[in-house]
Amino acid sequence: MSINANIDWSKLGFTYTKTDLRYVSKWKDGKWDDGKLVEDNNITISEASTALHYGQQCFEGLKAYRTRSGKIQLFRPDENAKRIRKSCKRILMPEIPIEKFVDACVQVVKANESFVPPYGTGATLYLRPYVIGIGDNLGVRSAPEFLFSIFCCPVGPYFKGGMAPVNFMIAEEFDRAAPHGTGAAKVGGNYAASLLAHTNAVEKGFADCIYLDPATHTKIEEVGAANFFGITNDNVFVTPKSPSILPSITKYSLMHIAKEYLKLEVQERDVPINNLSDFKEAGACGTAAVITPIGGIAYNNELHVFHSETEVGPVIKKLYDTLYGIQFGEVEAPEGWLVEVK
Ligand code: PLP
Ligand code: COI
Repeated sequence: MSINANIDWSKLGFTYTKTDLRYVSKWKDGKWDDGKLVEDNNITISEASTALHYGQQCFEGLKAYRTRSGKIQLFRPDENAKRIRKSCKRILMPEIPIEKFVDACVQVVKANESFVPPYGTGATLYLRPYVIGIGDNLGVRSAPEFLFSIFCCPVGPYFKGGMAPVNFMIAEEFDRAAPHGTGAAKVGGNYAASLLAHTNAVEKGFADCIYLDPATHTKIEEVGAANFFGITNDNVFVTPKSPSILPSITKYSLMHIAKEYLKLEVQERDVPINNLSDFKEAGACGTAAVITPIGGIAYNNELHVFHSETEVGPVIKKLYDTLYGIQFGEVEAPEGWLVEVK
């Protein structure tokens, strides 16, 4: 299949594009059906669906990469499968078997192969799997039926500037998730809760906000759509440990890369907001965000600048080059990280 000639790959942002086919599978009477690819990008569901009223829904995000030789590969789709199972379990939705999830991802990429951006453009094919509670229901309870679907769109950088540093502000007045709430699950309610704080941050000229721990407001949790990490002045890769943040697959991949490829010490631990000067570099990481260097963080009416507001720090540059190299097939990947789409 040839590559779509009507897209200016280098100009893509993180926006929706309708592609050719999407995957749809339904759960009814205790089981998932076989699933199929469909052309229609609209879904028709009961007006009384729990997804619409009680937020019974979750989603995932992962990408397909085209290598220099033209091969297409998915990055750690089994990890997304495991995470969506945890999200489903947390909000009482039926879990999708790991093989069904990965197979559906492969089917969607294959069916939309012409939308996988060419190597060298930096663009990728973003897959958005989701599960929603559907069917007629009124009271607050789990839905009688469920829909699992995956669509995909070619995308560029999530934060403007891609690998250029951007500034974030601490969301001092808002929490994203509650202690013992759904912060570790990828459910839409967490994102609805973040919209106002995000919009306020953007209106003030920041890329997004960073949330503090909901119980004490003293420790960094994460960015609205990415995890946080920092490099200490003595070269330790540090990232927050908290039960209310999303366990980022990119973050765990970077911890492995920092340790095994860059030979850095790695710590997953509390990151007090008052100790920002411990870090010489900081970044946001995620599937959409990839690695976005953090220029500075505004807190208490002060902007704390890390390495620089305009230049990427050397450790983050190495982490980025290694992650990007693995995803695009230029650097040898750890066993099992890549699934070829053929
Ligand atoms: N944190 C939040 C709130 C996110 O939405 C995302 C995106 O998926 C991440 C972190 C990064 O997770 P991952 O690296 O698995 O994409
Ligand atoms: C991702 O990185 O895949 C995300 O889900 C982040 C955001 C677009 C919600």
